[in-house]
Amino acid sequence: MVGLEQRYRRKPEGPTDERYSSQIIDDLIEEARNANDPAVAPVLTLFVDPANAAAIKLYRRSGFSLYEHSYFDKISGIVYQGMLLTL
Ligand SMILES: CC(C)(COP(=O)(O)OP(=O)(O)OC[C@H]1O[C@@H](n2cnc3c(N)ncnc32)[C@H](O)[C@@H]1OP(=O)(O)O)[C@@H](O)C(=O)NCCC(=O)NCCS
Repeated sequence: MVGLEQRYRRKPEGPTDERYSSQIIDDLIEEARNANDPAVAPVLTLFVDPANAAAIKLYRRSGFSLYEHSYFDKISGIVYQGMLLTL
């Protein structure tokens, strides 16, 4: 789960790929790349609420795309959408 305090959202002003949100995601991707075992499929996946437009835009900006995999959360009743990034 990635989350920013309200005061850091949509900040700083300027290019979107320099937002704090992107800096965090891109750092995590870099960490995964560095830790990647070549014997293992080099992909990162996540699940996101399809109603969470901000999160989907953020993940797309960092290179994730939607893929045909979902996860049903019985408690919330939400069908989370899978997203995937090839490292
Ligand atoms: C998801 C989250 C980390 C994104 O960070 P952010 O600083 O709000 O978003 P960004 O500045 O990176 O922008 C994301 C995009 O969505 C847009 N956006 C932001 N809030 C939005 C909203 N409520 N509705 C629609 N679009 C929104 C932004 O304008 C931006 O679009 P752009 O790239 O065209 O400028 C942040 O909103 C957050 O902490 N949310 C609560 C926790 C959460 O939902 N985490 C994700 C769980 S999977």
